[in-house]
Amino acid sequence: MIEKLEKIINQAKKEAELIKNLIDLENFRIKYLGRKGELTIFLKNLKNLPLEERKIVGKKANEFKEYLERIIEEKKQILKEEKKEIFFDYTLPGRKFWLGHKHPLTQVMEECLDILIRMGFKEEQGPEIEDEWHNFTALNIPSLHPARDMFSTFYLPDGRLLRSHTSPVQIRVMEREKPPIRIVAPGRVFRPDDFDASHSPVFHQIEGLYVDTDVTFLDLKATIEEFCRLLFGKKVIIKFTPSYFPFTEPSAEVAISCLKCLGKGCERCRNKGFLEILGCGLVHPQVLKNVNIDPEIYSGFAFGLGVERLAMIKFQIDDIRLFYQNDIRFLSQF
Ligand code: PHE
Repeated sequence: MIEKLEKIINQAKKEAELIKNLIDLENFRIKYLGRKGELTIFLKNLKNLPLEERKIVGKKANEFKEYLERIIEEKKQILKEEKKEIFFDYTLPGRKFWLGHKHPLTQVMEECLDILIRMGFKEEQGPEIEDEWHNFTALNIPSLHPARDMFSTFYLPDGRLLRSHTSPVQIRVMEREKPPIRIVAPGRVFRPDDFDASHSPVFHQIEGLYVDTDVTFLDLKATIEEFCRLLFGKKVIIKFTPSYFPFTEPSAEVAISCLKCLGKGCERCRNKGFLEILGCGLVHPQVLKNVNIDPEIYSGFAFGLGVERLAMIKFQIDDIRLFYQNDIRFLSQF
């Protein structure tokens, strides 16, 4: 009898391995545990055995019965799960690929650079950690001169500093190269400003520099006007206002008309009409001397524009902080 039981057990274990679906499983259950199942009949026949043998064989047979019941239940759960996973609804719409895009500041920066590079400017980079010479002194801002306040910054313990504008790149290029020089330098700049709707301690500028023989204010004006028209459209009104920078003389600030009211003043520009976008001027002769370029032979113009400013005007954004919060709901609009 014990051999017969072992045969049933071995056979059932092999067959259990082959079960692939719920129907196989049910057939398996009936074959062994059904009313006329092999194990059921075996258990019924036990009563014919002598007591001693019945005890041993019966114990083993009952253990096997429990084992079968357990694995049938387990397999049932697994097969049910699989059945759920395999189910595929072909009528569902396809899944959309989640494609990101460039940050609005990068977009505006690249658009500006595209225009300027087409005009013949070459892209240059400079370090964000600068020294006093490049950020101030060479730009005609001597130490202790009040003009340093205009460009105050963060200092490192070793005396170096974070550049407070991209103008030091002008100096680095002129120290290295001889005119004609025509460069644009985009990058991050730092100032100890509050972080509010219109200020940020970190922001972006694009610097431009052109040095050659006979560069005049007319070249500057034509370049800036063309740049603004290409960026904002032909209708935009461009206003130059006299200003002061230690490294340019004469200097000017450039404002463009509000894109909605064209300078009249409306709710979009908070009745200002014009919005300042950049500072510029003819390179100060002292700056040229500082980099060993003879101001009797050469002249140049320079400008520096605020990328956040341009992006805020272009996309009608009224809080600069939105650019840095990485909120997808904001970024995905541009
Ligand atoms: N560096 C000036 C600023 O940050 C801008 C500027 C650049 C002005 C070049 C004149 C010439 O405000």
